[in-house]
Amino acid sequence: MILLTGATGYIGSHTWVELLQHGYEVIGIDNLINSNIKVLERIEKITGVRPNFHHVDVTDSIQIHKIFQDNKIEAVMHFAGLKSVKESVDKPLAYYLNNVGGLMTLLEVMPTSQCKYFIFSSSATVYHPENPIPYQENMSKGAANPYGRTKWMCEQILTDYQIAHADISVASLRYFNPVGAHPSGLIGESPSGIPNNLMPYISSVAVGKNDYLNIYGNDWNTADGTCIRDYIHVLDLAKGHIQALEYLYKNNSPITVNLGTGNGVSVLEFVKTFEQVTSQTIPYRFAPRREGDIAAYFADASLAKALLSWEAKLDLKAICLDSWNWQKQNPNGY
Ligand code: WQD
Repeated sequence: MILLTGATGYIGSHTWVELLQHGYEVIGIDNLINSNIKVLERIEKITGVRPNFHHVDVTDSIQIHKIFQDNKIEAVMHFAGLKSVKESVDKPLAYYLNNVGGLMTLLEVMPTSQCKYFIFSSSATVYHPENPIPYQENMSKGAANPYGRTKWMCEQILTDYQIAHADISVASLRYFNPVGAHPSGLIGESPSGIPNNLMPYISSVAVGKNDYLNIYGNDWNTADGTCIRDYIHVLDLAKGHIQALEYLYKNNSPITVNLGTGNGVSVLEFVKTFEQVTSQTIPYRFAPRREGDIAAYFADASLAKALLSWEAKLDLKAICLDSWNWQKQNPNGY
């Protein structure tokens, strides 16, 4: 059985669907502070399987012990975590308690069970912003914010843990920019309040919830002056988790890999592609740069291809179409 933490969240829910459709037995936990329990009925609609869900906070040691005692868990995919860069600057302790504390709760319990595989949701924010692009796994680390620092701390804890527990194999997966939605339009990204991230904000303009997009800076050192990022479809990301799990089962050795497309896309290119494929107009205004942003980064995705035989298959057009399909059917999210 595979335990998913953060299971009702954006990436967790899409991975849950993929795992069920690949025949895995899954148990999901979530504290529901950043997700909606309605996603469970949507997962059942897509897969025909009633999700096995428990309302549990990953930092609750007693509840986590019970989950491992009551279920034969062989692997964990750890998605649970607070993920807003801006919020992490305002509330660093909440981020360390939740993101680092939650990981340690899971790692403390694992040796009391037969669970031997652990997949960690890491992030491209662990890389030092001065690195040359594309980012490679061995490049220097140095997150510019508490959120990114929690991810790098978690990776280092996992490295030390791995040495002390040679029978447990760990995969740290560094996500670039997860975007898109399941093509059914039944599950997708459903941020609470005003979206921080580009894709959900564009969708909110398209569906009429916001009048225009603020583009944070058009004076960056890029071809069109707007920031460049590596946008990866959430379904490609979900598939990457399954291929990482199969790698651990087969090799019983740790890996750390980028999960990105290897292509950089500017904000203006993103807006233009969205307009082309959805026939929706996205009015925008240039606004001052956002604190913490950097001009450009994207992945060198060759290691994931070599080790996991994984590469992103869905392009920006599919990302925009699937996001729009989700947003049209769910203008207020879940
Ligand atoms: C993308 C680009 C903005 C909104 C974030 C997290 C990071 C990771 C991935 C988890 C930037 C511009 C955005 C808007 C804009 N998450 N933008 N107007 O910041 O690259 O990364 O998601 O690991 O931790 O920080 O993503 O979507 O916020 O921004 O112009 O209304 O779009 O300036 O250049 P980001 P984003």
